[in-house]
Amino acid sequence: MNIILFGPPGVGKGTQGSRLAEELGISHLAMGDILRAAVRAETEAGLAAKGYMDAGKLVPDEVVVAMIEDKILADAAAGFLLDGFPRNVVQAQALDGMLAKHALKIDHTVFMDAPEENLLNRLCGRLICRACGFGFHRQYSPPLKTGCCDRCGGELYQRDDDREDVIAHRLHVYREQTAPLLDYYQHQDSFHQLDASGEMDAVYGALKRIVTGEG
Ligand code: AP5
Repeated sequence: MNIILFGPPGVGKGTQGSRLAEELGISHLAMGDILRAAVRAETEAGLAAKGYMDAGKLVPDEVVVAMIEDKILADAAAGFLLDGFPRNVVQAQALDGMLAKHALKIDHTVFMDAPEENLLNRLCGRLICRACGFGFHRQYSPPLKTGCCDRCGGELYQRDDDREDVIAHRLHVYREQTAPLLDYYQHQDSFHQLDASGEMDAVYGALKRIVTGEG
């Protein structure tokens, strides 16, 4: 199964996407995680991306399109869940071209949305494990031991772009560049809209019903 999750920063794409991909046995291709790994490894693409990410701007399309195509091809046989790609209409068109070239298709395109107040609360309180990348929230899903990952014991940190001023810019970029994807996808058969304002397990249940058709 191949799935796209799209929606604003902090809506829960990473939280729900990683859980769903694990349960379905497909690859979770999170563009932000792929870019952050490239920044840490100081690859050419990572060095090109860093300034844009720190400022909350989109990384140029040619950089992200080249990076994701390799990952999609590597995982096409097992199935994949795209989180954070595509992020504008140019990227959606590039994805359609890639899918056609390799005889692949998307089964479900899920637009997740929640009020801006929820997004701000979620992003300001987010904590991530430096070692395994698992996500927590200070209030909504706190770790058992402060500063320490429940899964692997790694150190928890706050993302550089989860500062209030950068979050405001990311939301602006979302409204200007990513929200138009709704027009692009909403008339396709694979399209679904998901209210992601509820608590995590309820949102996950609704997402799972969408992709499995059960319940
Ligand atoms: P990226 O890492 O993709 O960030 P984003 O899209 O801004 O999304 P987030 O990761 O912030 O949010 P999320 O929806 O995954 O929320 P999460 O599940 O973590 O991208 C970062 C940067 O990389 C971009 O700004 C850009 O520079 C660059 N980039 C990435 N893709 C690109 C592309 N295609 N083109 C160009 N540039 C690109 O949840 C957030 C918090 O809320 C967590 O703490 C979680 O525990 C909590 N939470 C989640 N769900 C709930 C719930 N239901 N109730 C309560 N708390 C919840």
